[in-house]
Amino acid sequence: FEGRKKTMWKYKEFMPVDESKIVTLQEGGTPLIKCDNIGKDLGVKLYVKFEGANPTGSFKDRGMSVGITKALELGVKSVGCASTGNTSASLAAYAARANLDCLVLLPHGKVALGKLAQAMFHGARVLSVRGNFDEALEAVTSLALMGEVYLLNSVNPFRLEGQKSIGFEIVDELGWRSPDRIILPVGNAGNISAIWKGISEFYRAGFIDDRPMMTGIQAEGASPIVNAFKKGEMEIEPVKNPETVATAIRIGAPVSYLKALRAIYESEGLAESVSDKEILEAQKLLARKEGVGVEPASAASLAGLIRLLDEGEIDRGEEVVCIATGHLLKDPDTAIRACEEPLEVEADINSLLDVIMGKAGS
Ligand code: F0G
Repeated sequence: FEGRKKTMWKYKEFMPVDESKIVTLQEGGTPLIKCDNIGKDLGVKLYVKFEGANPTGSFKDRGMSVGITKALELGVKSVGCASTGNTSASLAAYAARANLDCLVLLPHGKVALGKLAQAMFHGARVLSVRGNFDEALEAVTSLALMGEVYLLNSVNPFRLEGQKSIGFEIVDELGWRSPDRIILPVGNAGNISAIWKGISEFYRAGFIDDRPMMTGIQAEGASPIVNAFKKGEMEIEPVKNPETVATAIRIGAPVSYLKALRAIYESEGLAESVSDKEILEAQKLLARKEGVGVEPASAASLAGLIRLLDEGEIDRGEEVVCIATGHLLKDPDTAIRACEEPLEVEADINSLLDVIMGKAGS
């Protein structure tokens, strides 16, 4: 792979597509950021893989590049998905690029503003479904089974083929070795499965001789996989009314739960849940101590690390990669709500000095 451009297509031999048809926006090749400010405080060697740097601001672009390429190979005319937001934003963009019709079903009132703007602006037909993500996914799956759309949720295995490149990039970046642990937020559970698949492919190819402990984090109000893990089971009990500030992972019946649990058990990893408060605190910590702006769901990985360290489940001194799955700007409302409104001032030096010296306002 030496000398190749830093996108996910650096590893094209591992992608099951016709190379002449690849639909790409140069996704992947995202930064692996060493986070010493937080890492030192926590006593771990911390990296954040910043997936917000992808073309539409989330890791979904990797899966969509492969998924849309496949759609072209198969000769379909229209594609569709249900989404908590990021999948729809990404699908809309890649469908536009490939000149395909795009239908997206979104849970009404529960999609962050940036994601909604993207899906609409890239020209998808957007339907706001009265129901949650799980219900929207069931509905669009029925449409797909009738042949109305080619389904590009992560039940589509080609999505995972693209997303496995996150695993490729981490071990490549670290010098062809694994970190001790990879921690990421889990919603529909495709991504943790995909990363484990990627790591395992490179392991079997002999490129690396160790694999990381896969650690999945869910929000307390939407944690069926964590519940199953804590009971040591392979089956989940779906959560009927999932709820969390991290709308991206507001999912009660993750489709890829089996693959996810297998990744966690096989890698001797962990699953843990975190509260909305812990998520928002971790989001702020990343922004203020490292300059890394992520959306709430993405901060679940750091929140999970902090909790697992407190519980003594993770050892100090470990080398940990947290996946920051989506960009801060995806959910501006939540970011603004977490801050104080800017003080309004007159545009003259005396008013400014008054404010700075603490004489006015505050
Ligand atoms: N983080 C973000 C920012 C997400 O958008 C998602 C999933 C996840 C984590 C969880 O990944 O589902 O593979 O376990 N978002 C989907 C969507 C459900 O529709 O955008 P997962």
